[in-house]
Amino acid sequence: MLQRRDFIKALSACGAAGLIPATLPRPALGSVRSYQLTAGKSAFNITGPEQADTDMWLYNDTCPGPLLRLRRGDIVRAAVTNQLDVPTTVHWHGIRNINDMDGVADLTQAPIAPGESFTYEFPVNHSGTFWYHAHTMSWEQVARGLYGPLIVDADDDPVTDHDICLMIDDWRLDKAGQIHQSSLGSLHDWSHAGRLGNWLTVNAQSDPAFPVKRRARIRLRLINAANARVLTLRFDGVEAQLVALDGAPCRTEYVTKITLAPAQRADIICDLVAEKAVIRETSTGTDYPAGQLVATPELGGATAPKDVINTTRVPPLPDLSQARHILLHMQGGAMGNLTEARYDGAVLPLRELAQKHKKLWAFNGQVGDYSNIFAEIKRGTVISLDVVNDTAWPHAMHLHGHHFWVMADDPTAILPSGQRDTWLMQPQERASLVFLADNPGLWLFHCHMLEHAAAGMGAVLLID
Ligand code: C2O
Ligand code: CU
Repeated sequence: MLQRRDFIKALSACGAAGLIPATLPRPALGSVRSYQLTAGKSAFNITGPEQADTDMWLYNDTCPGPLLRLRRGDIVRAAVTNQLDVPTTVHWHGIRNINDMDGVADLTQAPIAPGESFTYEFPVNHSGTFWYHAHTMSWEQVARGLYGPLIVDADDDPVTDHDICLMIDDWRLDKAGQIHQSSLGSLHDWSHAGRLGNWLTVNAQSDPAFPVKRRARIRLRLINAANARVLTLRFDGVEAQLVALDGAPCRTEYVTKITLAPAQRADIICDLVAEKAVIRETSTGTDYPAGQLVATPELGGATAPKDVINTTRVPPLPDLSQARHILLHMQGGAMGNLTEARYDGAVLPLRELAQKHKKLWAFNGQVGDYSNIFAEIKRGTVISLDVVNDTAWPHAMHLHGHHFWVMADDPTAILPSGQRDTWLMQPQERASLVFLADNPGLWLFHCHMLEHAAAGMGAVLLID
């Protein structure tokens, strides 16, 4: 487990204690933006014009779901109608939401039954790149296409010639180009890396080309909507400044590639320095074309200034002297060391958990389930969630309702300069996810490899 002494040493070496910015929701000055989202069965072409459409579950018959675009301070009013034949809910990933509007079925709301509707209404108090997705049986509903982008603009956004959102997914299709059905819910996927796909799309297309002005400055908003694939994207033909991760500003950094775990986002300001820029997905060791930005003279000349972006909005770390440490030991999965765990009031051997209950992962010896509160937290406390990934697999750990700073006692660890809502933890990695617990309610902390979450890799934090 994490040595508290070393951890504190590492913290003081950073000397980063600072004032906590006011994070209370701003008064509702913005306008109400109304949306209608209908979840239903639909067919959509994701395999190319010569191929048949794929049967999917979509919002408003479109893949990805409609772009919801707002200004900071606005209020989202989204009426969601369920035309599936199973219950569903919508989670607004990365929004520091009102708990009742967080969309976690059976935790923050009753699931929306087939034929029923539910209206979500909440303010968006932070600008950036977010997304929404189904949060009922999400391992299946997201795999079938129930997700879309949500972008919040602000007056202090950098000026660009174009703003392009790339929602990237890794589908598992059968030979006919349909969602591979028999592997949905596969115990092998649940105990290994999750559902990895065989068909990469960007905004539901293969290698789409986006026409842009010559020498343009482009804001790229990258969203990993895959169930389990960790993407590595490489950029050629642009000078790229990374300005935000997970919808939160980070210290500006020039990058040529970026790794995105499921649910993570990156905002990159790209200056086109060639006739075309090429984006490739390289995580498997083989380059896979992901998209292109093509200089198109008919669009006229670029006008956005090519400044270095200055991100003074990165909030300082909170004062850690009073932080409450919560240890979280992740165990389980294939090739792991979990022999038994508590589930539904009883301690069961892993074999029985797997075969009878499809549970394979645990935190501190407890299989995740919503009836179990992992920690009760007094509102206003600074929390250091000291997480050890004691498994053989990487996990994309996501906290609902809050963004966190990432700290580690390993001096060689590469840590983000801003806050995140999802952190990719490598096998045996230890990290402290530090946040101000200022948002009351029941909040999930879970792996965003959605099969792992379904198989027990999650916990409920109660803040009151
Ligand atoms: Cu995007 Cu609980 O998830
Ligand atoms: Cu995981």
